[in-house]
Amino acid sequence: MKRVPFSQAYSRVKHPAKVALAVVKAADNTFNCITLEWFMRTSIQPPMFAISIGHTRFSYQCLQQNRHLNLCFPSADQVALTTLCGTASGRDTAKLANVPWFKGRLAQYPVLQEAAAIFECAVTTQVRSGDHTIFVCEVKYAWVHPTFGPITVKQLR
Ligand SMILES: Cc1cc2nc3c(=O)[nH]c(=O)nc-3n(C[C@H](O)[C@H](O)[C@H](O)COP(=O)(O)O)c2cc1C
Repeated sequence: MKRVPFSQAYSRVKHPAKVALAVVKAADNTFNCITLEWFMRTSIQPPMFAISIGHTRFSYQCLQQNRHLNLCFPSADQVALTTLCGTASGRDTAKLANVPWFKGRLAQYPVLQEAAAIFECAVTTQVRSGDHTIFVCEVKYAWVHPTFGPITVKQLR
């Protein structure tokens, strides 16, 4: 074994990684979407996920104001959207402007029609983790596309 800087060791283990999108609601009731690599399932019953969001993100602000989110697993048809949601900020870009969606059942947040799977969630807890905050959320409703499967982070590059 060789002792190395954190980034060198992490680059060896971080792939393959799935990628997700979180749809959140801003204070003005418009919807925003952020690309996420840092998420995990945290409970079987009830089903729960945790996502980690940086404090500089507009989505972090949104989650302080509105405590629901839709966790979406993008399909191959959403590669461009996933890149946009991971590079542009909802502060100056309407990322969902041309995206087909219908209203979900929990809080009427967008269910993206081209996603592989979507989980409508309510945030139950948040924990600060350095320059990010972990939002723990409970799944209330789940949706799947009849044929589309999820992409991995590598398909974005
Ligand atoms: C592949 C990929 C994964 C990302 N994962 C995360 C993540 O887990 N947490 C996070 O806070 N930002 C992550 N980002 C960065 C945000 O998606 C990016 O800063 C986004 O523009 C923030 O949008 P917002 O300001 O509208 O919230 C990721 C970006 C990419 C491209």
